[in-house]
Amino acid sequence: MSDHKATVTVQSPLYYTIISGFWMAFLAILGVNIIGGFILPTEKPALETFAYPIEVAEVAVASADGGGPAARPDIRPMIVAANVDDGKAVFRKCASCHTAEMGGKNGTGPNLHNIVGDEVGDRNGFKTSDSLKAIGGKWDYAKLDDYLENPKRLAPKGTMSFAGLKKPQERANVIKFLMSNTDNPPPVDAPAQ
Ligand code: HEC
Repeated sequence: MSDHKATVTVQSPLYYTIISGFWMAFLAILGVNIIGGFILPTEKPALETFAYPIEVAEVAVASADGGGPAARPDIRPMIVAANVDDGKAVFRKCASCHTAEMGGKNGTGPNLHNIVGDEVGDRNGFKTSDSLKAIGGKWDYAKLDDYLENPKRLAPKGTMSFAGLKKPQERANVIKFLMSNTDNPPPVDAPAQ
């Protein structure tokens, strides 16, 4: 009799434990779904808003100081490692407007022979825009890199209708190609001018 009582009193909390266990599991799964439903939509925009300001920040940094060389990663080690033939391939994007060989004709854009280290906007007889001339100085590596990434950043009213080479590797390659068409390119480690 006392045995039977004992089994009843032991079994019935166990029964409730099992039932409530199922309920808790059910509620836990429901909870995860509900909380997940709250977390996921807020997490996605959070990631986007995280990714976006970085791009904006880069642009802001670049324009805050006129996109000057100081704001940019140094392209020169990539130029040193770059390959002229790869640059020649990139130059196909430029060839509709530019020649690069000695004595090559001006087209839509000026002939680019001896451009590396040369005065900005001083291309044998080409009618350079005032916006490009306003850049001033010489085409050192940093300035070429900057211009070729986005011509409108350094020369907002310049006439080079080219979106720019967004990949640093492409810029390094094409600058290496321009060096190969320049008689005495400045040393790649020369200070910016
Ligand atoms: C759609 C035609 C076009 C394309 C494509 C083009 N350019 Fe130009 N480029 C021009 C014009 C036009 C100018 C003169 C810009 C000015 O006076 O504002 C110019 C100017 C330049 C200058 C400055 C020359 C100077 O007078 O100091 C460089 C350097 C240059 N381009 C390099 C390139 C390179 C490298 C490419 C390819 C990656 C390229 N361009 C693609 C039309 C073009």
